[in-house]
Amino acid sequence: MHSGHGVLRRRREPGSYLSILLPLILPYPEHVGEIQVEALSDSIPSEARSVRNLPAEISNSQPILQPLLTLKMGSMATTPPFEVLTDARPEDHSLPAFMVSTTRGFLPRMDPIVTLPPEFDALESILQRMPVKTASGAPGLLALGKLGDEVEGGFPDLTAAMDRYKDDLPLMNALYRDYSFLASAYLLEPCHGRFVKGEGYGLGRQMLPRNVAQPIARCAEICGFQPFMEYAGSYALFNYRLEEPAAGLEYSNLRLIRAFEHGLDPESSEAGFVLVHIDMVRNSGPLVAGTVQCLDVASKKASLERSSFNEGLGNMLEAMKKINGVMETMWGKSRPTEYTSFRTFIFGITSQSMFPNGVVYEGLHDNKPLSFRGESGANDSMVPLMDNFLQVPMPDTPLTEILQDFRKYRPSNHKTFLAHVKERSLALDLKTRALATSKEAREALQSDDERELLRATRSLWLQLLNEVRDFRWRHWCFAREYILKRTTHPTATGGSPIVTWLPNQLEAVLAEMEAIGRISREEGDGRGLGTTCDDIMEAALRQRETLRKEVDKYCAERGVTRT
Ligand code: HEM
Repeated sequence: MHSGHGVLRRRREPGSYLSILLPLILPYPEHVGEIQVEALSDSIPSEARSVRNLPAEISNSQPILQPLLTLKMGSMATTPPFEVLTDARPEDHSLPAFMVSTTRGFLPRMDPIVTLPPEFDALESILQRMPVKTASGAPGLLALGKLGDEVEGGFPDLTAAMDRYKDDLPLMNALYRDYSFLASAYLLEPCHGRFVKGEGYGLGRQMLPRNVAQPIARCAEICGFQPFMEYAGSYALFNYRLEEPAAGLEYSNLRLIRAFEHGLDPESSEAGFVLVHIDMVRNSGPLVAGTVQCLDVASKKASLERSSFNEGLGNMLEAMKKINGVMETMWGKSRPTEYTSFRTFIFGITSQSMFPNGVVYEGLHDNKPLSFRGESGANDSMVPLMDNFLQVPMPDTPLTEILQDFRKYRPSNHKTFLAHVKERSLALDLKTRALATSKEAREALQSDDERELLRATRSLWLQLLNEVRDFRWRHWCFAREYILKRTTHPTATGGSPIVTWLPNQLEAVLAEMEAIGRISREEGDGRGLGTTCDDIMEAALRQRETLRKEVDKYCAERGVTRT
């Protein structure tokens, strides 16, 4: 997409980077100082992820497993380049499963791998026998409370077998998904047993045995995930198969690969919960494409070429409306009364009463306890993309720190893309230029046409914020109907405080909308932004009153403070 950047990808054993890079650098001696190494794996030391002075850094950067080398060939670029794929290259197994593309957005480059090599038959077998309701309808190990015995009673350690396939990254991702299902089920099985008897969760298992701890740590390291269930790499976005391959990603054609409770039945609430996420994310390609279009337009000239910029914003708006439309189908696909029963298995370790001291991964980290956040849609990349692009200011609160902590739990390439969009938006001074909030920017508008285009930009910007508000408001409604009305457990699956965390970000979006609405009224040509935006603002401000009353009520009932 970025024509000014030459891109080269190579996979090499640690230590051989200089031999790859020297032939690249030699023709461009003047750009040696601009060479950049972007890591695709979290296992790369952070200081080696973005380097400017190549030879010294490369020699310091071992062990590097999966680098993406991007060579800046021109002087146009001012911030680190990022390649968004226009062809997701589904057949290429040397690349990570998750790379951002304009076609599949944040979905993996290919449909997830379902069938494991024969060496992993024992893993396949235990996972098929594991769900509360198995594919045949018979009760599984979790219904009988027997998973722990199976794991502890001779389940093999398959780490060595895994190493044979370590160059096949999508397969490594499938193994990571499968081991993370096994690990969460093992750790939380006792809590499920108590929950179905109407008791509190009590304690989970406090140690993950070696035969699960070692292989999950290994494939997580290779793929760049935390060694615990994540939203994209495991529970949701790498957990679907197509019933009829030719019928594609239509909702009715999607099935879960793995499930904890009743999810192998596509009509179940567990399946509906996961599949609606996938159905939303399958519409994220145009959102990514619109973002890239806007950033590209803004990079070209100091004066914003508004018709193309507005076209990009319009594409993003369309995509967000579609995504929010799909989100609304959650109510019918997954019943609010059934969420808390499969939820037991997707809790994390961090801030959860079930794991007050963390979890020991046998044989790892000197047997000191580890702690990870659980599976959460908070690790989806669509809304963070909007936050970063639109520069939504978040308050300086401990709740916002949790939002930042969630970033660790995304595929590396999603993380790099989100960071890139954030940096690029700030470096280009995108918000100030788009909304023409500086005096100079307004004075530069010479003609009525230019002023009309600015009015359109402001309207689209506000409408995009409104989609982010819509998403977060519906979320608050989900949290209220699926969780707050059903359980007093104080933390969500990702370990955030259930009453106050979602409102922290929703309030931030509402405040930003209010600010931009005010600027548009006070610093425009007196016409405001028109009825669409007037209606949006009126509804948003009314909603803020409702939100505050509801949050106050739940805070009072549960004895919690807002921050
Ligand atoms: C029944 C449906 C859902 C429920 C009950 C629910 C619940 C929650 C909760 C409790 C959180 C707080 C974070 C944490 O886990 O600690 C959260 C965050 C989040 N979830 Fe969901 N979720 C639902 C559906 C979805 C869907 C379909 C998506 C689509 C991608 C999604 C995306 C997100 C995002 C982006 C956040 C972070 C919100 C923010 O930044 O303000 N969720 N969710």
